[in-house]
Amino acid sequence: MGHAFLEKMELVGLSTNWNNLTDERRELITTLVENGQTHLFAGWDEPGTNDDAKFAFLESLEKIDGGYPGGLVGYIENARKLLAESALGANPFEGLTPEKPETVDLTTFTAEFERYEAIGAKRFDKVGVVLVAGGLGERLGYNGIKLDIAVETLESTSYLKHYAENLLAMQARSESKRPVPFVIMVSKDTGPKTLESLEANDYFGLDRGQVHILQQELVPAIADNDGALALEAKYALILKPHGHGDIHMLLHTSGVAAKLAGEGIEHLLFIQDTNGPSFNTLPAAVGVSVENGYDFNSLAINRVPGEAVGALAKLVGEGKEFTLNVEYNQLDPLLRATISPEGDLANEQGYSMFPGNCNTLLIKLDTYVEILAASHGIIAEFVNPKYTDETKSAFKKPTRLETMMQDLPKLFGASEKVGVTIFDRFWSFSPNKNNITDAAAKHAAGGPCDASATAENDFYAAGRARLEVAGMKVETAAEELILGVPFTLGPKVIPRPSFALTLAEGRGKVSGGSISGEATLILDGADITLENVELSGKSALIVKACEGAKVTVKGAFENEGFELVELTEAERSAESDVPEYLKIRGYKFVNRGAEIHEFAEPGEYVVEA
Ligand code: UTP
Repeated sequence: MGHAFLEKMELVGLSTNWNNLTDERRELITTLVENGQTHLFAGWDEPGTNDDAKFAFLESLEKIDGGYPGGLVGYIENARKLLAESALGANPFEGLTPEKPETVDLTTFTAEFERYEAIGAKRFDKVGVVLVAGGLGERLGYNGIKLDIAVETLESTSYLKHYAENLLAMQARSESKRPVPFVIMVSKDTGPKTLESLEANDYFGLDRGQVHILQQELVPAIADNDGALALEAKYALILKPHGHGDIHMLLHTSGVAAKLAGEGIEHLLFIQDTNGPSFNTLPAAVGVSVENGYDFNSLAINRVPGEAVGALAKLVGEGKEFTLNVEYNQLDPLLRATISPEGDLANEQGYSMFPGNCNTLLIKLDTYVEILAASHGIIAEFVNPKYTDETKSAFKKPTRLETMMQDLPKLFGASEKVGVTIFDRFWSFSPNKNNITDAAAKHAAGGPCDASATAENDFYAAGRARLEVAGMKVETAAEELILGVPFTLGPKVIPRPSFALTLAEGRGKVSGGSISGEATLILDGADITLENVELSGKSALIVKACEGAKVTVKGAFENEGFELVELTEAERSAESDVPEYLKIRGYKFVNRGAEIHEFAEPGEYVVEA
């Protein structure tokens, strides 16, 4: 191809001497030139000058070409098509009318809730967990990966450890004891630290073989409606994140989705990096999916009209029907243009009929594998350029294609079933996304904070709920504002996943007793039972029991427990050596004498006050 290639380059005005390139690279350049990308190679230095930069540039093009289904040309073609649609101002909801989606209401702990949990709990070895953790977390502004942040600060359990503990608890309860597959999507920004964390902690007790790490890549930015790839400088593309929808592409291209299906996994639960309560919902959600035959189960919360969270709606028209996530700012105009001139309205309970999307998704694996094969994992890409004027012929800055994991049902046909399972917010959705200042402003405006402190607060609230369902008397302490963010002082309850994964399991291990005020109770171990345990004031009790250690706990425990101490301004400053996961909360707990019992040998034990 040598001579022909040089002639071709000559023809498009690229007269540099290209002799030192491999045939593969020449072919890639030719293809890109034929697809409107001549500018990428214009003005290149002679061979021998800046060769390292040129090769690095070609390498980055090759990497993108190999990673994206359809290669760079596929990406450019998709971009042209979506940009043409965007310039036409096509309404994506044209001809569609929103309706209430099919929902299962599990906002209260009824017998129905437990019936679903019981179905799900029998299938722990048929579920895999997919964690999307490639995001930068700019709103939170934490100097590290979000997975390393502590979800609670009494024992400072990181999100990653908490998730791993849930997987271990699931597999310990299944008949087959088969390791629960754990897929983690990372990006270039989060990958090294995620791996470091896993390595430093011996994979938190997981088998290396059950953890599948998939790395998402950035995609090239696009400079114009013709899909010209944007350059930052000579030999350097501008690259941008493609979004969390990359998980679908990676599960397809890596073959992991098909492999897990082949191994008998039936559902995948998709979770976010900092949504601590995700596993509270897993057993019941699996039960709902199985019983209702859902191919796609969107876990949701009740949402007040106007709330800034994606709304789940059934869209009906032209013989089609989809249940989709509609961005909250698109919902109101859609409703006004169709069924409700007043926009999104509240029902008697004050909620919109369109529940809020937690972005915790339970997807039926055989359906998923089929959809991935048909789409090559390219899921509902979109483009959102900011145009310089109404002619829509130029962008203010380069744009790129994006994709969101919740958009998978856009590819569904009549035979795929989508349902929505609604849980109480503290039980299901409490992400740690916002820094203190922004969180305080959100609270002042009457909205949820989604901050580190509120995530920790909800972690304890879920623990309290488990005890209450089990029949313990729970009296909640006052709520305080710490730097403008609400935090309930107690009781702080952590039933670790090893102790209970379902309400029924907790009920079987707790009888009577009470907990109140700022008391603390942490239970870690499958064979711990509580008999009329009483904790009040700031008293704290921590019981940890290894496998085979059967521990009965009884009586009223009294001690100085944990005290919440607010950080001073100096402690919160960048110079202070207080761990950053505390700075982003504004408080710490100081142990003033919690009673701690650890059992590292199997046997029968009694802990009595
Ligand atoms: P977020 O909306 O929290 O985005 O992502 P973010 O990028 O992490 O945070 P901000 O917007 O910069 O503040 C929701 C989930 O999707 C993952 C995140 O890691 C989080 O679990 N995500 C996001 C990816 O895995 N890849 C992406 O490209 C974007």
